[in-house]
Amino acid sequence: MTSEQPTRDSSDEAVTADDWWKTGVVYQVYPRSFQDLNGDGIGDLPGITERLTYLAWLGVDVVWLSPFYPSPMKDFGYDVTDYCEVDPMFGTLDEFDALITEAHRLDLKVMVDFVPNHTSDLHPWFAESRADRTNDKRDWYIWSDAKADGAPPNNWLSVFGGPAWTLDDTTGQYYLHSFLPEQPDTNWFAPNLRKQMFGALGFWLERGVDGFRVDAAPFMGKDPELRDNPLNPDHTQVFQKPMADFDQFRHVYDIQHPVIHEYNREMRALLDSYSVTQPRAMIAEVTLNDRVAWASYYGINRDGYHMPLNFNLVSVHWSPESVRAKVEEMEACLTATHWPNYLMSSHDELRIASRFGVAQARASMLLLLTLRGTPTLYYGDEIGMLNATIAPDQVRDPWGVRMPGYGRDPGRTPMQWDASVGAGFTRADATPWLPLHADHAVHNVEMQSDDECSMLSLTRRLLAVRRSSEALVRGAITFLDDVPHGCLVYVRHTDESRCVVVINFTADCPEVILPGGAVVSSTGETHLTVSGPFNMRAYEALVVLEADAGTDPS
Ligand code: NOJ
Ligand code: CA
Repeated sequence: MTSEQPTRDSSDEAVTADDWWKTGVVYQVYPRSFQDLNGDGIGDLPGITERLTYLAWLGVDVVWLSPFYPSPMKDFGYDVTDYCEVDPMFGTLDEFDALITEAHRLDLKVMVDFVPNHTSDLHPWFAESRADRTNDKRDWYIWSDAKADGAPPNNWLSVFGGPAWTLDDTTGQYYLHSFLPEQPDTNWFAPNLRKQMFGALGFWLERGVDGFRVDAAPFMGKDPELRDNPLNPDHTQVFQKPMADFDQFRHVYDIQHPVIHEYNREMRALLDSYSVTQPRAMIAEVTLNDRVAWASYYGINRDGYHMPLNFNLVSVHWSPESVRAKVEEMEACLTATHWPNYLMSSHDELRIASRFGVAQARASMLLLLTLRGTPTLYYGDEIGMLNATIAPDQVRDPWGVRMPGYGRDPGRTPMQWDASVGAGFTRADATPWLPLHADHAVHNVEMQSDDECSMLSLTRRLLAVRRSSEALVRGAITFLDDVPHGCLVYVRHTDESRCVVVINFTADCPEVILPGGAVVSSTGETHLTVSGPFNMRAYEALVVLEADAGTDPS
């Protein structure tokens, strides 16, 4: 196997102890679906607190919580009515404080979701804004007159289908909503709106959160003249996945106004001012396909987000060419000061094990945890949870209701802790908010923790290996050429240590030549000792921690 030049050398920049967002592994908890402690069928904060010992045992470092703020739940919490409270469904502020205390006791960081682009239509700010045209919160949202024929002000579309404008009878103007009509877009040009939003960030920073995941970051700035988006003649994909009608337009005016970077800098300065004794970080949801636009969210002088989330593996085809292309594309768009990150799933996607297959999901976990950059795991992927079948009358996700086929419910079903009636998620007599996957009796944390070949044991082993390996945490990445057909091989290396990763994307058993060293196999087999020729099993992935590490990645 011959080598290529590393696309990026991690020695470009030192990684310090404060850089927990670089060295750690993030685990996304969708609060509704993680652990229901009070038996109402909906996960809650005390439930999450109770399960933090599991996360510490698993070996992740950072817990990202999707929204738990008061909300009418039209978009399950991404429609906020109070940025500085906890929805009673999820608990209380005291229970949030207890969660933070317990997480920090266990050496886990906590990041919370922040939803700046829109509020709920039931937020008191919107109630005031819509009341009359001269209200002092009128400009906190985006209002505009109809066209002469009564049509919406321009051609902007909602991500969730249909026009992005709804006519409000109270004042006879349209308001903008990039998502649901129940999620009116805020107007970040309004200084008092910004002040309130920054106040909310301060509120959670004071309570000890370690950082934020900022929702729909590119939507925070729009063209003040509300110009029509130009057509996208060949429907080129604008976002990381196909978006149906939304892809009919080039999103030149409805997102991505450069002013966003000013707000990002302001947010970053606020965060930095809280980072003296407790280093904080902010990451952004940026699903843009355009890598230059995506990378701009790091800021010009490292004054933007610590990282925009990288979704490019979500759309990967499970092939060596596709994975390599996605990783190389990412590496190529980063400068020396940009830290990469990868995720393969989230509450907005279908489950990995259903997308790629069960064996492939195991290999994909090995991939995710051995790439250069911060990995984010989605709850349940560590046990290989599958998409649940959601009957038409059980569809809860508004995207799925408005655009059949786009529903996100199959990947949001409750965490499968054990084989009991409520899967350990909720009580036997409770009805979970989404149906439990029928396979929870055989796919659950309890059973998998007793099986050293399980997906859970594999994930835990990989997390431990990653933590122990300088090459995996900080090393450069180099892909090797001239490898067997259907395989991907890369080396992670620092001056002192090296790991070789081999992934077989086929059902065949190609022979590879491996260096000597400790091996973790995606098949779950432990104590594997390999050196020299080795026949990969179908869809197997291996990471070899080289015993005799050098600097030459060939
Ligand atoms: C992105 C979130 O991840 C998604 O779940 C939500 O529906 C939209 N933003 C709107 O907030
Ligand atoms: Ca509950």
